[in-house]
Amino acid sequence: MIISGKEISVKIKDQLKEEVSKIKETYPRLPKLVVILVGDNQASQTYVRNKERGCQYIGIESEILRHDASFSEIELLQEINDLNNDDTVDGILVQLPLPQHINEEKVLDAIVPSKDVDGFHPENVAKLFLGQHSLVPCTPKGMMVLLEEINYDLAGKEVVIVGRSNIVGKPVALLCLQKNATVTIAHSQTKDLKAVCSRADVLIAAIGKPKFFNHEYVKDGAVVLDVGINRDENNKLCGDVDFDDVKDKVSAITPVPGGIGPMTITMLMKNTIEAFYHRNGD
Ligand code: GUN
Repeated sequence: MIISGKEISVKIKDQLKEEVSKIKETYPRLPKLVVILVGDNQASQTYVRNKERGCQYIGIESEILRHDASFSEIELLQEINDLNNDDTVDGILVQLPLPQHINEEKVLDAIVPSKDVDGFHPENVAKLFLGQHSLVPCTPKGMMVLLEEINYDLAGKEVVIVGRSNIVGKPVALLCLQKNATVTIAHSQTKDLKAVCSRADVLIAAIGKPKFFNHEYVKDGAVVLDVGINRDENNKLCGDVDFDDVKDKVSAITPVPGGIGPMTITMLMKNTIEAFYHRNGD
């Protein structure tokens, strides 16, 4: 089975749209997301445009604050401070990566946790670690929703995550653990990666190498979630998984494009609405 993140995300966005129309009747204003983009990274430009489209589709407010690469750290921190204090703003997202001269950690720390729709602030990370209610990073959250959509029960399953980033690998490990999976986080220094991956009932590929995982890494009947967004030798979009080589071996797999990507954006919309409710005391 090919898990269409695209189709599932449309279904969820339609539910969110419905929810927003109810919000319109009940509250004096709509949820609002502000995205800050510094510099001219091409991939970031595309992601930010898709985020804006997502907001338009479900009917929430959005604003993109674009700055050229010379925008200073102090100016960025000031802008975040203003947004923290703006009651009409529910979600603040600073698109990564940032230019070299800006300290990412300082910037992420500056966003008030209640508006941190990326779930990257240390307070939200700590809550996720402790299993407390928090804003959860969008890509890991999207993966959990996909597994729910295919009625996959993680309890007792072997999950192998390849990649240990703060954005994907580490948070998705915690979420799988919460669902009672047995979790392994593998990475560039892991010995005999093929053997480790071949144990996985669920393989999560998040290393950013085009078509790295072929059939030798995949157990018969495994579920494969491909987080990679790369270009292959023909400049065509592809994942970290060699889709054609593993597709007949797996029980389910997410394609690239149209798998995890659209879910990430949809979870950002969901987090913005959650932040809105929370900020309104609901
Ligand atoms: N760049 C790549 N992925 C992400 C993400 O999830 N959030 C932000 N803010 N930037 C990113």
